[in-house]
Amino acid sequence: MFATSPLFVLLSIAAASALSVIPRSTSDGGSCDSLRNACNANTTDLAFFYNNTACVLLTTCTAPTETPAFVLHEMGAPATQPRMTESFFYTMSGGKDYMSEVDYINAYYGQIAITPNGTYPSSVDDVTPDWLNIAAWTGFCDTLNIPYSNFADWFEYSDVAGVCPAVSSCDASIANTTTPCVPQPITDNGSCAEVESQCQLFVTGGLFQNEICVLASMCYAESTTDVLLRKIYNYNGQPAPTTQSEARLSESVFYNMTNGAQTMSLQNAIDAYYNALTGTWTSLGGPFGAETPEKTTTDGPYPTSTDYVSNFWGIISAWTGFCDTMEIPYDNLADYLSYASSSGYHPTC
Ligand SMILES: *[C@@H]1O[C@H](CO)[C@@H](O)[C@H](O)[C@H]1NC(C)=O
Ligand SMILES: *[C@@H]1O[C@H](CO)[C@@H](O)[C@H](O)[C@H]1NC(C)=O
Ligand SMILES: *[C@@H]1O[C@H](CO)[C@@H](O)[C@H](O)[C@H]1NC(C)=O
Ligand SMILES: *[C@@H]1O[C@H](CO)[C@@H](O)[C@H](O)[C@H]1NC(C)=O
Ligand SMILES: *[C@@H]1O[C@H](CO)[C@@H](O)[C@H](O)[C@H]1NC(C)=O
Ligand SMILES: *[C@@H]1O[C@H](CO)[C@@H](O)[C@H](O)[C@H]1NC(C)=O
Repeated sequence: MFATSPLFVLLSIAAASALSVIPRSTSDGGSCDSLRNACNANTTDLAFFYNNTACVLLTTCTAPTETPAFVLHEMGAPATQPRMTESFFYTMSGGKDYMSEVDYINAYYGQIAITPNGTYPSSVDDVTPDWLNIAAWTGFCDTLNIPYSNFADWFEYSDVAGVCPAVSSCDASIANTTTPCVPQPITDNGSCAEVESQCQLFVTGGLFQNEICVLASMCYAESTTDVLLRKIYNYNGQPAPTTQSEARLSESVFYNMTNGAQTMSLQNAIDAYYNALTGTWTSLGGPFGAETPEKTTTDGPYPTSTDYVSNFWGIISAWTGFCDTMEIPYDNLADYLSYASSSGYHPTC
């Protein structure tokens, strides 16, 4: 579906690269992990990752916990890969121009059978979610038959940050338990993920009590702050609180951002957002909630345009009813932060 999209591949692997092994969301008895015995530099030309069955299946079985880019990074493969070829696709589809769920399952079991120390899944139910994830992204939930070009697109484009499929899985109960994809305009350039990752250091003190976390809440305007909380807490292995349980916006954070003015302007939001990306915070270690933050001299990534801030500020201005001036008083901004997530109201100016 994204065959004509521009190739702005924004890799959000920085936060995940601290992990030393590829985690798997479902328990599959180690079957997915065992594919690494057949997809590694000793056995495979990693420069042709997507014409190797073991590497292709390692990528599909690790999703959606990890992205294709993360798997390349983890296996030490070049980040830029040639597109999967049609002739390779036919080896998995049995010569058909589409691959069915059964073809995928057969390819998976066939590859485990020839993988050194390959571990079979405990049940076929461990394998089908892989396919339902890709069928959802490519838009083939109706038949679960995925044509060549759409399957190849998934490897090439499913990493593009902020581009979200209609549903995350063709199985509604799986989709329900997956943290939703966060839509972002392309001008985001990974800036919101950086603000979110800094917020992680402060969030247990209250989402709306820290300026960086307030900015993360704002750049989630296309999504919700409930999703933001799930992303941060679940990433750290913790159950997430809901927005409703968060204390109301700190007045001192508000007035710091407005330099004492009674309303917050678009310019205030732009200044605060760029400021949060200048000399970013990192962690000196410690458990979630008790990490030691350290200010660095690292900057960015900044949005590619201040239009990015105008977009989220436009959503917040519309929600609060200030499209005319885009100047938002404390009470209205505090209401937005506390209630927009549960309101289901998502207007734009
Ligand atoms: C690759 O080969 C090296 C050297 O023999 C060995 O140390 C390493 O464990 C092998 N890696 C895998 C994944 O088999
Ligand atoms: C994979 O790519 C290599 C290099 O282009 C080629 O030699 C090989 O035949 C391809 N394998 C398949 C299964 O397409
Ligand atoms: C497979 O497992 C056996 C027994 O645990 C071990 O001796 C052998 O090195 C393993 N081979 C590979 C390729 O991992
Ligand atoms: C999804 O989750 C909501 C709320 O947690 C629940 O009401 C709904 O029944 C779930 N739907 C499915 C298909 O599991
Ligand atoms: C107040 O704003 C300044 C400049 O935007 C910022 O550097 C500082 O961290 C803020 N202080 C607090 C307590 O949020
Ligand atoms: C956009 O992100 C890339 C990659 O992180 C970065 O190199 C570039 O400087 C960013 N653009 C801006 C305007 O900061």
